[in-house]
Amino acid sequence: MNLEELLNLKIPPKKDDLTDEDIARLFFKYKGLLKRIERDEAFWIATNENMTRAYSKLDKQARELQDAQEQLIRKEKLAIIGQLASSISHELRNPLGVISNSTYFLKMMLEDADEKIKKHLDILQKEVVRSNEIITDLLTFAKVKKIKLVNIDLNKILEDVLKYVEIPENISIEKQLNTDLPPLKLDEEHSFRAFLNIITNALQALGDEGKIVLKTSRIENFVAIKIMDNGVGIPEENLEEIFEPLYTTKAKGIGLGLAIVKEIIDEHKGSIEVESKVGEGTTFIIKLPLKASLEES
Ligand SMILES: Nc1ncnc2c1ncn2[C@@H]1O[C@H](COP(=O)(O)OP(=O)(O)OP(=O)(O)O)[C@@H](O)[C@H]1O
Ligand SMILES: [Mg+2]
Repeated sequence: MNLEELLNLKIPPKKDDLTDEDIARLFFKYKGLLKRIERDEAFWIATNENMTRAYSKLDKQARELQDAQEQLIRKEKLAIIGQLASSISHELRNPLGVISNSTYFLKMMLEDADEKIKKHLDILQKEVVRSNEIITDLLTFAKVKKIKLVNIDLNKILEDVLKYVEIPENISIEKQLNTDLPPLKLDEEHSFRAFLNIITNALQALGDEGKIVLKTSRIENFVAIKIMDNGVGIPEENLEEIFEPLYTTKAKGIGLGLAIVKEIIDEHKGSIEVESKVGEGTTFIIKLPLKASLEES
């Protein structure tokens, strides 16, 4: 029998039907097949490895593309909001100034007025301040003002923010400020606004009572600022969205606070991270490079 006839048999041949030559043919065929399987296996393993590598490269590129796309959309969104904001804000500044002056005048003239009138004048004044803050936020967003980097004592900025905000009686502030911090190059107004926005959020997350911890430290080439509160916390699924413009969970919020913070941190070439647990609290960690020199770039 030749090899083909042997291989075409329907039932296995008996040992006695096979000549030594048949056995030798079958042996070599079997060996050849084994060799091929070995080669094929090596080929498939190599192919598999190549494909895994190609896949992870593709995956990385897809992620980079998505990041770039998201950044572009964010930038476009910011630009549109910025344009709108700056024109509306400029229009609003004048009438607000008039309301503010008139309120001041009325307060002076009505020094002996009854408490109800005084209370309403105070409300008016407070709301004008709040409206002006919103306008400042919008204008910061629209980057109407050019950023000006000067040597800044970071701890002082934080102290200034604490003096500026109204801290309810049952909210305690713990300061862990490193007094050996080197001065940073920051835009004073913008950095004040960034910390004001984060601390305002922390106060809002606390409600009537709780604690805010402010910590500054130097880590290698940057200064880290931690702002911790033990307030309501942020659900994990929202963490990615909180820096998006117009994202808010508050009835009276606009959703610009953290978007502005992110802009300001970016313009100082820093980074911002957030850790939060619902019911336990939130921590914002900001890192600002020691040599944040925008002049260089
Ligand atoms: N410390 C915090 N604790 C809990 N939630 C927070 C905290 N900081 C931010 N958030 C969440 O992130 C959202 C976005 O914050 P952001 O400051 O951008 O806007 P806002 O405070 O809602 O409105 P605006 O600041 O414009 O008045 C908030 O609505 C809130 O849900
Ligand atoms: Mg806010």
